[in-house]
Amino acid sequence: MKIFVTRAIPEAGLTYLRKHADITINPHDRMLTKQEILNGIRGKDGLLCLLTDPIDHDVITAEPKLKMIANYAVGYDNIDIKTATKQGILVSNTPGVLTDTTAELAWSLVFAVARRIVEGDQFIRQGKFRGWEPLLMLGRDIANKTLGIIGTGRIGTAFALKSQGFNMPVLYTDITTNEVLEKQLHAKKVTLNQMLKTADIISVHVSLTPQTHHLIGKDQLQSMKETAILINTARGPIIDENALIIALQNHWIFGAGLDVYEHEPDIPKELLRLPNVVVQPHTGSATYETRSNMAILTAKNLISGIQGHRPPNCVNPEVFTNH
Ligand code: DGY
Repeated sequence: MKIFVTRAIPEAGLTYLRKHADITINPHDRMLTKQEILNGIRGKDGLLCLLTDPIDHDVITAEPKLKMIANYAVGYDNIDIKTATKQGILVSNTPGVLTDTTAELAWSLVFAVARRIVEGDQFIRQGKFRGWEPLLMLGRDIANKTLGIIGTGRIGTAFALKSQGFNMPVLYTDITTNEVLEKQLHAKKVTLNQMLKTADIISVHVSLTPQTHHLIGKDQLQSMKETAILINTARGPIIDENALIIALQNHWIFGAGLDVYEHEPDIPKELLRLPNVVVQPHTGSATYETRSNMAILTAKNLISGIQGHRPPNCVNPEVFTNH
């Protein structure tokens, strides 16, 4: 069994892979180019890739031996699933192991924006703190405010459940009813428009698909409260970044907390100049524990798929029925 790994992942995953296969790992401490990925998969049965690797039609169809692609991420919008399925190539992701970690990062951003944590830190380091002042760095309360969750899959649900203790009415949008949230938090399913008009803290947790691309644009931002906070730990292109910059510049909303960007890793300078946005370098799942668990899960998926089994986290099981 031969496997190509596009970037070194935590050792636990690599150890598992080495026990079962002959593995080749990207020797560089950087993302590979498309050509390097094409060269890397030559003669390989499996590919372990990152969310930053565009696994498009060319890559998927390049190596006839390729049986399985394991993405080291829960999101898999970087992979052309349709082509993979057509080619009979299995694809897996890493759901479950990063749910709480990503929800915790979303909450970190809520607190950082609401209480202006980054601005306060910079203020002190710049030697500007002269003592307690009645109007210094006023932020926004979190307790008792209305929470809005766009998409209540695993991470959106975990994010909402963590609001217990802050006594927050919870609104959510989803195509299906979320029994857990309705039962445990008395959450109310609403339309996106209703949520945008009434929620104080809105967090995005949908996957990136053609339907969710620019789900939040100029009109949506304009309909939000001036005191509202918008959080995105899902995927950048779900929010129209240019519209968000205008919204933040003109104080249509109080602030935003972002872990993801429309053209990652490029971030517009105009966005970075704004004090009312807190930015993170796509670290939703970045803890020692979670990245290690993701590595093990990705490796197990990959080996199982190459061995001809249905991987535990297969995203295109149609491969088994179609081929
Ligand atoms: C994922 O796994 O899709 C997340 O974006 C990681 O933070």
